This record gives sequence, C-alpha cells and structure tokens, in this order.
Amino acid sequence: MSSLNSSNFFIGDIPVRGKTILAPMDGYSDSPFRQITRKLGSAASITEFVNTMEVVSRNTIYEERCSFQPSERPIGIQLFDNNPERIIRGAEIIVNKWNPDWIDINMGCSISRVANRGAGVGLLKDPHLVAEIISGLTGRLSVPITAKIRLGWDNESINFLEIGKILQDNGAAMITLHARTGKQLFSGNPNWDAIALLKQTLQIPVIGNGDINAVSEIKSMLDYTGCDAVMIGRAALQNPWIFAGYNVDEIPLLLFQEICLEHLSLMKSFYGDSRGCILFRKHAKKYLSHTSLEKYLIRDLLTTSDPDLFTEKFTNLIISTDKLI
Ligand SMILES: Cc1cc2nc3c(=O)[nH]c(=O)nc-3n(C[C@H](O)[C@H](O)[C@H](O)COP(=O)(O)O)c2cc1C
Repeated sequence: MSSLNSSNFFIGDIPVRGKTILAPMDGYSDSPFRQITRKLGSAASITEFVNTMEVVSRNTIYEERCSFQPSERPIGIQLFDNNPERIIRGAEIIVNKWNPDWIDINMGCSISRVANRGAGVGLLKDPHLVAEIISGLTGRLSVPITAKIRLGWDNESINFLEIGKILQDNGAAMITLHARTGKQLFSGNPNWDAIALLKQTLQIPVIGNGDINAVSEIKSMLDYTGCDAVMIGRAALQNPWIFAGYNVDEIPLLLFQEICLEHLSLMKSFYGDSRGCILFRKHAKKYLSHTSLEKYLIRDLLTTSDPDLFTEKFTNLIISTDKLI
C-alpha cells in the first residue's frame, strides 16, 4: 500500500498524498470517522453534504457538519443546492467561518428530497445551471471548487462528459465520478469505462468511485481507468482499515482494538457522551460483526443507553476479542 500512498495529485494548489479517499456519506463521514480514516490512510477528507438553504438562513443545525480537526486536512466541505446565488452566498459564509481547503458541490445525490428539487443529481439535468453555479463559485471564492457527479440523471440522459467539460471550463479543480446514473441509485455495476473516458478527456484530477470493496480492487480501478485516486464509501464503514491496506480478513487484532476504542472516544468528545454513544451504535454493530461474539451480547450492548455502561461493555467486548473473522 505504501507505493499507492506515495504519489501526489493536486486540488488546485493543494497536494493530496495518496490514492484512496473516504467518500462523503450523510450520517457517517462526520469528524470522528474522518479522523479515524485519515489516520488509517485516507488521503483527504470530505464532509457530509451541507444544505446551503440552512447556511444562508443562519440555521445553526449545519455547523456540526462543517466542524473538523486540523488532522483531517486536506478537507473539502460539500454543499448541495440548486440556486446559484444561495450556493455562492453559502459557500462564502462557510469558507470565511470554517476555512476548508476546498468546496465540493454535490451533483450525485439521488434521494428524492434533494434530486427532485433540482439539487444533487438533479443538477445534471441542467448543464447551463451547472455552468452558472461553478463559474459563480470559482469567480467569487479563493479556494478550489470541485464536484461529485454521476453518469447522468438516467440511462437516456448520460452526460458526464459534457458536464465534466463544463466543470473544467468553468474552473473546477477536480471531479469525482460515481459511475452510475441517478436512477440506478446503487444497483448495477459502476461503469469503469466511463471513469477512464472522463480521465482521458479532462486535464483536472478525476476520482473514481463505486463499489470498491477490497484492497486489490483499488489498484484494479486505478490501473484500468487511470484515475488519480479512488473514493471508497460503504466498504469503509465495514472496514476503515481498507485505507491501511487491509482486507476484512487481514485486519491486525491490535489495530482493530485501538481503532474501535479510539473511534468511540472521538464520538463522545465530538457529540457529548450520551449522543456520542447512541450515534456510535451503528459503527459498533459493523465493527463487532468482525468478531465471533454471540448475538445476544451485541444486542445487549446496542440497547444500553447509559453512556458509561455502554463504554464499559464495548471496551470489554473489544479487549476480550482474540480473533477476527
Ligand atoms: C449512507 C450514505 C450516505 C451518503 N451521503 C452522501 C453525501 O452526503 N454526499 C455525497 O456526495 N455522496 C453521498 N453518498 C454516496 C457516496 O459518497 C458514494 O458515492 C457511494 O456510496 C458509492 O460509493 P461506494 O460504492 O464506495 O459506497 C452516500 C452514500 C451512502 C451509502
């Protein structure tokens, strides 16, 4: 893995050292998880998406999503919206207050409340609007602007090449392609030929994304598509150690234990003890699936609401693990 992590590419003038990046994931890629994955080898960080409607209305609910530690840098804050003025205003507020290394625009989210109002993957239906948003952002902001796209809205409107050129021509500094259409959601296979074509067509860095589940697949995607780095989402939830070059069945026990306990501790400091433990349950469930613990012990842990008791039980389960499956 070290050779994979030695080369650089640049987002604008920001160097990125490494070939794997944690995907932005609503509800998961928060500051604690980004700290964990960055430590394990993710080359950069991107926040969960932030709704710029909330930013401009000064609804402070979004602020938790923008907060990060220096160790997570280089970091992009991801925004979604379909209104150029609002997204530019929101980006300015965020850059002034949080000082991220870049701003990423979500053009891939397919959930209906986002896509049906023309944001997320809905933007791909309107290339002129994409141009207006990106040229407005690159004209007004001093940090690089990047975008995360899909192949198109649906099979009948595949336009990632057109969108890619528009993004580049309007000053975008990097594109991530989740190589499926919006309508596909997560079904079917990602189209690696599309990633290769986008990379061949553009001069700015292209990040490939979709269904990377094992360490060997990272190199396969890099070699096949020529992309500058690979973005990993769902597989990293199950196995953040993939960024250190370990498949699920290869995770060193001591590193497993260290990371599980550190993740819980980061969650408690970020969200407070009670909320941190509750939000950690979904991670605990995934981590404990690598152990041979009886199901009733896991169930008991996941229904424990007292944070001190939860911490004690989780710690005991983790340190008594002597074998991973
Ligand atoms: C629970 C979940 C939340 C997601 N939230 C976001 C998001 O906030 N922004 C975004 O660009 N993509 C989001 N995605 C899409 C991922 O970034 C990624 O493109 C997708 O999961 C495909 O990569 P994978 O096959 O490695 O998981 C999300 C995906 C999942 C599973």
